[in-house]
Amino acid sequence: MKILTVVGARPQFIKAAAVSNIIRKEHKEILVHTGQHYDENMSKVFFDELKIPKPDYNLEVGSGNHGKQTGNMLIKLEEIYLEENPDLVLVYGDTNSTLAGALCASKLLIPVAHVEAGLRSFNMSMPEEQNRILTDHLSKLLFVPTKSALDNLKNEGIQKGVHNVGDVMFDATLNFKKLAEQKNSIIKELGVKEGQFILTTIHRAENTNDISRLKNIVEALNECGKDVVLPLHPRTKKYITDYGLNFNNNIKVIDPVGYLEMINLEMNSEKIVTDSGGVQKEAFFMSKPCITMRDETEWVETVENGWNRVVGTDKHKILDSIVNFYPEKKQENIFGDGNASEKILKLLNSCK
Ligand code: UD1
Ligand code: UDP
Repeated sequence: MKILTVVGARPQFIKAAAVSNIIRKEHKEILVHTGQHYDENMSKVFFDELKIPKPDYNLEVGSGNHGKQTGNMLIKLEEIYLEENPDLVLVYGDTNSTLAGALCASKLLIPVAHVEAGLRSFNMSMPEEQNRILTDHLSKLLFVPTKSALDNLKNEGIQKGVHNVGDVMFDATLNFKKLAEQKNSIIKELGVKEGQFILTTIHRAENTNDISRLKNIVEALNECGKDVVLPLHPRTKKYITDYGLNFNNNIKVIDPVGYLEMINLEMNSEKIVTDSGGVQKEAFFMSKPCITMRDETEWVETVENGWNRVVGTDKHKILDSIVNFYPEKKQENIFGDGNASEKILKLLNSCK
């Protein structure tokens, strides 16, 4: 089969790092990078260190308002789909690149396969919730990572073509864990001690675009009494400057890091405080307590299992969890066996 895959944002490169080389064992893959993320440390570093195949096309759409960004992707993708005539379009996750990839294919009657289908926050003001609902309803094959994702689709009347394969990010973590262990010079360079720092990421629009939420987060981190390592997303960096917020010396603010360094930081942290989807899962993979600075999460099983606490952006709740949150339950198997990519390959073969 000729499979055309659309990626564009950091978490999609990591998912493709698990899946691309597997599906290429039996299919021809055309890889399209929309250019949604373009800084070297938001894009190139992942292709280089994770040996992701070089994209066949880069649409170079760059940043912009949702309509313009998604629309530019649609215009450029359509030309490529017509030229390449793929048998199937594969998309990951819930970004604007995901929606553009799926919508463009659906209009041309090309079947869509969605990896990480079925996730729901039940908060339609999130751009990601809009993207993932629309993408799921346009897809013929839906690869869900968790049981709750399966249930969500069932509740929306989607049952055909749905397969619980586990989480491809779990595959990626297992594949790259050994390499990541060697990347520990970052700990020394930052001057933090193994197991004694908080690792934080912040980039969710609902947190960056609201000064009071971002201020609460910064104040909680400033006052937590621990070293905090904060690889700062470019979106957040911009808002921190615009709002005139300042970090105390306990916070080591660094540029976004590559995946191997990020996994190393995660495995050596004491706890993880984040609003990222992928980082919540990785906290679970690394058996680290996760404090989620959102009002809800799609990864409900991690909360039910007692390893993730959803605290919103209430400064006192963040601070209390940094000090007092210690999971008590044994971890359950939530994300599958680490062979989601192989399962996806088998299912793709069965629909040839
Ligand atoms: C996007 C996804 C989000 C995902 C995140 C992963 C959408 C709607 N959102 O959010 O679901 O969790 O990626 O990181 O698709 N910027 C740079 N350099 C870059 C990329 C972005 O400076 O390489 C800055 C620009 O100012 C840009 C802003 O970051 O406007 C936001 O980028 P964008 O891709 O629109 O959204 P993300 O917040 O990254
Ligand atoms: N990540 C990374 N470097 C960083 C921050 C995050 O490699 O500086 C990785 C992280 O390990 C995870 C993925 O990026 O695999 C998560 O992406 P992000 O938080 O940008 O998006 P989300 O998962 O929320 O959509």
